Amino acid sequence: MTVKHILKELPVDLDYHRLPRHIAVIMDGNGRWAKRQGKPRVLGHQRGVDTLKDLLRCCKDWGIPALTVYAFSTENWGRPLEEVEFLMTLFERVLRRELKEMCKENIKIRFVGNLEVLPLSLQQEIARSMDDTKDNRDIDFTVATNYGGRQEILQACRAIAQKVASGLLKPEDITEELWESHLYTAGLNHPDLLIRTSGEMRISNFLLWQMAYAEIYVTETLWPDFDRIEFHKALLAYQGRERRFGKV
Ligand code: IPE
Ligand code: IPE
Ligand code: MG
Repeated sequence: MTVKHILKELPVDLDYHRLPRHIAVIMDGNGRWAKRQGKPRVLGHQRGVDTLKDLLRCCKDWGIPALTVYAFSTENWGRPLEEVEFLMTLFERVLRRELKEMCKENIKIRFVGNLEVLPLSLQQEIARSMDDTKDNRDIDFTVATNYGGRQEILQACRAIAQKVASGLLKPEDITEELWESHLYTAGLNHPDLLIRTSGEMRISNFLLWQMAYAEIYVTETLWPDFDRIEFHKALLAYQGRERRFGKV
C-alpha cells in the first residue's frame, strides 16, 4: 500500500475541529529540486503539479475547505523567457487536462492576480474553468497567478479612490469590509496557515493584507517532495500553536 492510501483519512492525532479553514501555500523549491537531480529547472515545475494535485485532494479528503496557492508572482516575469513561457504553457495545459476532474470532484477554482496580461489562450482557459466550477462547493481552490500583494493593494486603492472622487463613496465609508470587497480575494476568509516549502523565511509579496494573523510554517522540504506526510507535519505544528490575536 502506498503512503497516499495510508493517509487517505485524517490522521488520528489531528483534531478535525481545529483544522485550519483556509491554507495558503508558497510552493517554492521546484528549481532546486530539479537541480539536485541534474535536470532542467522546468522539470521541477512539472513535478510540482503532481504535488499540488495530491495536496488539493488531501485537503478534500481531510476536510479543509479552502486552499490558496502561489503559482506565479508579479516578480517572476524577471526569470528567463524560456522558463516563463514554459510555466504559462504548463498552466494552460494542466487546466485543460484537469477541468473535468475538478468538476467531478466538486472543486471551485478561482484565479487571483492581474490576469489581463496573461497569454490570451491561458486567459480563456482560466475563464472557462472558473465558469464551469463556479457552483462547486467542496473546496475553494484559489490560484495566485501574476499575483503581487502590493499590486493588489494598489488596485483596490485606485478603485476606491475613483468611487470617492465621483461621489459614490465618502472617505468615512472606507471600512475593513469595504476594503476587503475590493481585493482579489473578496469573499474568502483570511488564511489561518501559511506553508512555505524549501526553507525561505519570507512571504515574497503574497497576500500581504490577508496574512496579518496567519500562522507561518516553513519546511526545508522542496515543493515536489511535499507529500501527505509533510502536510501532516505542518498541520500538527499548526495545532500546537496558540493563536492569541493580540490578547493574553
Ligand atoms: C517555485 O519554485 C515555483 C515558481 C516560482 C513558479 P522556484 O522556481 O522558485 O524554485 P527555486 O526557488 O528556484 O528552487
Ligand atoms: C515565490 O517564490 C513565488 C511563487 C512560489 C510563485 P519565488 O521563488 O519567486 O520567491 P523568492 O524570489 O525566493 O522570494
Ligand atoms: Mg523560488
